[in-house]
Amino acid sequence: MTALPKPRGPLSVLVTGALRAVPVEPVGRIDLDPESADDAAVALWMLHELSYGGFDDVDDRAEWEPELVRVRRRLEDDLEAQLRERWPGPPQGADLAADFFDWVAGHDGPSLARHVQTHASKEQVLDLLRVRSVYHLKEADPTTWVIPRLPVAAKAALVELQYDEYGVGDPARLHAELFARGMEASGLRPEHGAYVDESPAEILEQNNALSMFGLQRRLRAAAVGHLAAFEATSSVPSRRLAQGLERLGFPEEMIGYYREHVEADAVHEQVALRDICVSLVNEEPSLEADVWFGAWACLDLEDRTARRLLDAWGVSA
Ligand SMILES: [Fe+2]
Ligand SMILES: [Fe+2]
Repeated sequence: MTALPKPRGPLSVLVTGALRAVPVEPVGRIDLDPESADDAAVALWMLHELSYGGFDDVDDRAEWEPELVRVRRRLEDDLEAQLRERWPGPPQGADLAADFFDWVAGHDGPSLARHVQTHASKEQVLDLLRVRSVYHLKEADPTTWVIPRLPVAAKAALVELQYDEYGVGDPARLHAELFARGMEASGLRPEHGAYVDESPAEILEQNNALSMFGLQRRLRAAAVGHLAAFEATSSVPSRRLAQGLERLGFPEEMIGYYREHVEADAVHEQVALRDICVSLVNEEPSLEADVWFGAWACLDLEDRTARRLLDAWGVSA
C-alpha cells in the first residue's frame, strides 16, 4: 500500500483532506481550480491511484465518492484538452499498418536513453530510476483496464502481450517485480509510489494520461495507440539504458530489467500495432484518429519528461 503524496497547491490540499475524510465526514464541494501543473498533476495522480492499490490511510470507498469522481473528471478533461490542443492531428495520408513504425522513427525528441548510455552520472541515473518507478512499479496495469473494451481479436492479442508483462504466470518475472528488485539492489525504495513526491509534473502527467486512457472506455483507441508507441520506443532505448547501467556498475538486477525489454518489446511492438491497433481499427474504423492521438501523446509526454530531466541536469537536449 502507498502513502499519500504531499499536496502541491490548494486543490491537492483539498483533495488530500477529502480522501482522509471518507467515509467519516461528508465530502464538501471541491470547486477550486488547480494553482499549477504540479497541483493538478498530483491531485489527479492521487485520484487515479484509488483505482489501483489505494492508500494506507484512505478508505477504499473514496474511489467512487461522487465529488471525488467529479474532480477526477474535471482534471482528466483539462489534461485531455491540453493534449488535444498540442496534437497536430493524424499524419497526412499515413496508413496505420504500413507507416506507423516509420512515423515513430521519424519523431526526433530528446533521448534520456542516449544520455544514460554514454554520459550520465550515477546520480543522474538514480534520479531517473526514482521517477521512472512511478510507472514501472505498476507496469502494464493501466493498459489492463482496456481488455474488456476491445473486440475479440484485439482483446486476445492484448491479453497475450499483458501475459508477458505479468511474468508468464511466474510472479518473480512480472516486469513490475523485476523493476522492484532492480530498485532494491540499486539501494532505492521498491514500494510503489515511494518517489511520487520528487517526481516532476511531467512524470505524473505521463502516468495520469495512461490511467485516463485506460479508465475511460471512450479513449480505448488512444490507450492502445499509446501502447504501440510505447513498445515501439522501448527496445532500442532499453539496450542503451542497459549499456549505460553497465558502464556505471549498476547491479545485475537493474540491468536485467532493461535487457528483458530489448527482445520482449521488439515482439510487443509488432503485436501492439498489428494485432491490437490495426485489428481494432478494422472493426471500428472511426477509432483510427484516436489510435494516432494516443501514440502521439506517448511521444509528446516522454519528450516533455526528457526535457525536464535533461534541463535539471544541465544537459542540452
Ligand atoms: Fe514491460
Ligand atoms: Fe512490453
